[in-house]
Amino acid sequence: MSKAIAFHLQKGGVGKTTVSGTLGCQSALNGYKTLLIDCDSQGNLSSWFLKEPSKYELADVLQGKCFASEAIVPVDNIDNLFIIPTFSIGGSLKNYSETKLVDEPFVIQDLVSELNKEYDHIILDLSPGLGRLERAALIASNEIITPMTPEVFSLDGLEIFIDELKKLKKNYKSNVKHNKIIINSYDERIKQHRDIFHAAESSGRFTVFKIPVDPIFRKSQEANAVPQLLKVRSRGMKQTTSDSINEINKTIWK
Ligand SMILES: Nc1ncnc2c1ncn2[C@@H]1O[C@H](COP(=O)(O)OP(=O)(O)OP(=O)(O)O)[C@@H](O)[C@H]1O
Ligand SMILES: [Mg+2]
Repeated sequence: MSKAIAFHLQKGGVGKTTVSGTLGCQSALNGYKTLLIDCDSQGNLSSWFLKEPSKYELADVLQGKCFASEAIVPVDNIDNLFIIPTFSIGGSLKNYSETKLVDEPFVIQDLVSELNKEYDHIILDLSPGLGRLERAALIASNEIITPMTPEVFSLDGLEIFIDELKKLKKNYKSNVKHNKIIINSYDERIKQHRDIFHAAESSGRFTVFKIPVDPIFRKSQEANAVPQLLKVRSRGMKQTTSDSINEINKTIWK
């Protein structure tokens, strides 16, 4: 069955884009037709996977300036992976979300419902924050998974997010699931990281996954590459990272 997942926490720099892109690649490598939707006006996911801006972007689709099919671009060097991009230059998505989106809170939900028929898996990457655009993307998803870094501020951020999500679900009569978190940039040798993992797990509210610190993510973003396929001086993704990504990927699309 087709499914749309948003990876979100309102905190910046926790790995939302890295996790979205990497799990999108894994889904595609496993043979599922996968669509990334770049809902972040910073356009980081798009600049990771596309070397050049394409003709249309997400803001054009949302404003009815083109069909979704015209904005969808295949990602190079990997089968089954597609993206609806956002380009930060010009700020179209930012302008759209600040002006028109107020009257159209279900515009992303409508888009995802249309694309669900064609794609097995859809991943939405969001900006930090919980503004109109993020809310519209969250209610468009079947499930929200929270990536967070192993630090106290992220745990605080998670509590705020849980509270805000409760209100959002009530206001929009949404039944989006939120019962998984990913502790990203995890280092088993650091006690604070282990403590935060156990704190998150022992709350009993979440299935908790970890993704280790791995320089392959930054390198693949610099090289417009698929992290699972990139080798730099014959070194690729760490085995522990690859095992984590496989485990997460196996669980989240069920
Ligand atoms: N597991 C990891 N190991 C090493 N570096 C990582 C890991 N995950 C993310 N990074 C790096 O951390 C930085 C921030 O990650 P990313 O851009 O994915 O965060 P984000 O939550 O999407 O940020 P923003 O809130 O700005 O959208 C990037 O440089 C990325 O390469
Ligand atoms: Mg990001």
